[in-house]
Amino acid sequence: FIKDLDPQMNIALIILAAGKGTRMQSELPKILHKVAGAPMLVHAMRAGRALEPKRTIIVAGHGFEAVSAAAHTEDPDVEIAVQEAQLGTGHAVDQARDALGDFDGTVLVLYGDCPLIQTRTLEELTATLNDSAVSVLGFEAKDPARYGRLITDGDKLKRIVEFKDASPAERAVTLCNSGVMAAPAHLLFDLLSEIDTDNASGELYLTDVVGKAVARGLQCAVVRCAERETLGVNSRVELMQAEKEFQNLRRAEALEDGVSMPAPETVHFSFDTVIGRDTVIEQNVVFGPGVTVESGVQIRAFSHLEGAHVSRGCIIGPYARLRPGAELAEDVKIGNFVEIKASALDEGAKVNHLSYIGDAHIGARANIGAGTITCNYDGVMKHHTYIGEEAFIGSNTMLVAPVTVGQDAMTASGSVITQNVPAGDLAIARSKQDNKPGFALKLMKRLRALKAAKQNKN
Ligand code: UD1
Ligand code: MG
Repeated sequence: FIKDLDPQMNIALIILAAGKGTRMQSELPKILHKVAGAPMLVHAMRAGRALEPKRTIIVAGHGFEAVSAAAHTEDPDVEIAVQEAQLGTGHAVDQARDALGDFDGTVLVLYGDCPLIQTRTLEELTATLNDSAVSVLGFEAKDPARYGRLITDGDKLKRIVEFKDASPAERAVTLCNSGVMAAPAHLLFDLLSEIDTDNASGELYLTDVVGKAVARGLQCAVVRCAERETLGVNSRVELMQAEKEFQNLRRAEALEDGVSMPAPETVHFSFDTVIGRDTVIEQNVVFGPGVTVESGVQIRAFSHLEGAHVSRGCIIGPYARLRPGAELAEDVKIGNFVEIKASALDEGAKVNHLSYIGDAHIGARANIGAGTITCNYDGVMKHHTYIGEEAFIGSNTMLVAPVTVGQDAMTASGSVITQNVPAGDLAIARSKQDNKPGFALKLMKRLRALKAAKQNKN
């Protein structure tokens, strides 16, 4: 089907994101609430960006500064149009008119609060414009509630009627408007100048352009998609439902792509998680944003990863934490209760138990003993630790950064390393042991006698 898509199709994306989202009960504009670690707006932008639009205009109003900042973080090239007062979806689209004055292609309108929309569906929608003037994405609603209704005649779309304005017969229609619409730019803006506020909400409805097009004798089409794809988030409950839906989709996709998960329902993905084939992800693993995992990796139960890259053959966890900037080369082992931050670990390095490695570079096949800590922060600045290839760091070593331990060097257990250790050397940095012969027995005898005397007194 995608083959039919005109590769030359010139698309401009308009994403409506000016609304307040009163029902979220939040200081944050609705579309900046997150699903799988990314603002809903970013989900809409990513779905649209896959169509390679020539232009992207985001219509912002409520929380203008925060909305433009989030949009530009995701894509510095998007343009922001301001909608000072929220006079309706038609008025919102009209705010992009000036920006698109010279644009001679197809406009695709998306809502910023609709995070589950799939690129494929958008491609299907724009492809129908070969035969229709305006194409609208619709869905069969289980509970049509307050959605706009699509009034059809056979396979032709006649008009869209908002719930508030609908007659009882129209309210009985279950084919609903998702809000996604595509039309040639010139036609769309032309039709928009004909719409008015003569309706139950006193707003300028984008949906009215369908009726206006039909009145001109133009043909309009409906493309249907699954209801779950068009889930529009208006409340925290719907936000949670969108999250659930996203996770289910992503888990199914990972399984399909060759990732093993004995309990997928407990694994939490981020919007951008990338996992290679034959990787095993055990129970209760959480992926924050920015994680890439290559193939053949084991991520054991209760691990938390964020901003990390894990190369092939690594074993992570159980109970490991990889923080932003963790760069693991092939066959690295990270064991239980180990935290890695802004550190590169070369091939085959091991940090198996109870350690903190921050702002460090660990050489290939180095072994970091249990309880090792890179003391990277002096209260003001962060400092680096360098550990050479095949170095052996004894258990409970404190590495006071900045510090370097050379290749093949060793530190004795319990050492506090404050000076560089040359390659091949052994550093012992702890007080000398002093054994007192028989002292333990004598001490215990005295303590027991003291306790007995105290009990006799009572
Ligand atoms: C809209 C559609 C309805 C459809 C439903 C699907 C219209 C008139 N109605 O209704 O047919 O079934 O979506 O979810 O289009 N926005 C602005 N500026 C405005 C008004 C809205 O930017 O002046 C943005 C909102 O931030 C939101 C989107 O447009 O992202 C949709 O607005 P909303 O008020 O939620 O429309 P609905 O009443 O849900
Ligand atoms: Mg809505």
